Amino acid sequence: MRRKLLLGNWKMNKLASEAKEFAIASRPLAELAKKNNIDLGVGPTYLSLATVKEFASKDMIVAAQNCHYKESGAYTGEVSIPMLKEFGIDWVIIGHSERRAYDNETNQKCHDKMAALFANKMVPVYCVGETLAEFEALKTKEVVGKQVREGLEGFTSEDVKDLVVAYEPVWSIGTGKNASSAIAQDICHFVRETLRDMFGKVADEIRVLYGGSVKPVNVKEYLSCPDVDGALVGGASLKIESYEELLRNIL
Ligand code: PGA
Repeated sequence: MRRKLLLGNWKMNKLASEAKEFAIASRPLAELAKKNNIDLGVGPTYLSLATVKEFASKDMIVAAQNCHYKESGAYTGEVSIPMLKEFGIDWVIIGHSERRAYDNETNQKCHDKMAALFANKMVPVYCVGETLAEFEALKTKEVVGKQVREGLEGFTSEDVKDLVVAYEPVWSIGTGKNASSAIAQDICHFVRETLRDMFGKVADEIRVLYGGSVKPVNVKEYLSCPDVDGALVGGASLKIESYEELLRNIL
């Protein structure tokens, strides 16, 4: 049985002081989520990770938004996995479409980062999704299939057992243009079948999320799809009231 997962992606938002306020206010929500067998988490910026880890409930998943695949070295501006681990961070969002678009994050780079994460027993949230042009050209499955296969090539079923994959159509991120729940189900199912082809029955344990303009009003519809195990939420995860509503609407 796959546990539901609601993960906020804060992107480049919130000062550490604001993150602290949110973390404190989220404590009862983490308790509520736990009681209902739901995993709840947020992805703050690097500078707020330690603060959120300190002030949120121990049950709150705290995810970094990126990492480097090398342990240390001459990589100005980067943060390594051991640096995250020292702060108790063991989840990392990988290959978000904004990083693919603005930071040249290729499937190969995602692969290298996930190899390092698996070696450290950490959990990647691997983001995949097609652009509007690819969607209109009916290439969604071609693009998403390639992202899944190239990103995860050569790993074992043991490596990927805790992996989370997030299907986020680029045209629905931050635009208010939702993919229908039928599309979300179809592509999340396709992701699972691709994982099954690569790794066998562990595909039934891997959580596949939908992301892209998820709001309190539509979160329940997505999560009622059999292959959608949760949501990766940007804008609607920033305010504690809206984050709480997201959770309450899937209890
Ligand atoms: P959004 O972002 O919910 O604001 O569309 C989702 C994401 O980028 O993960």
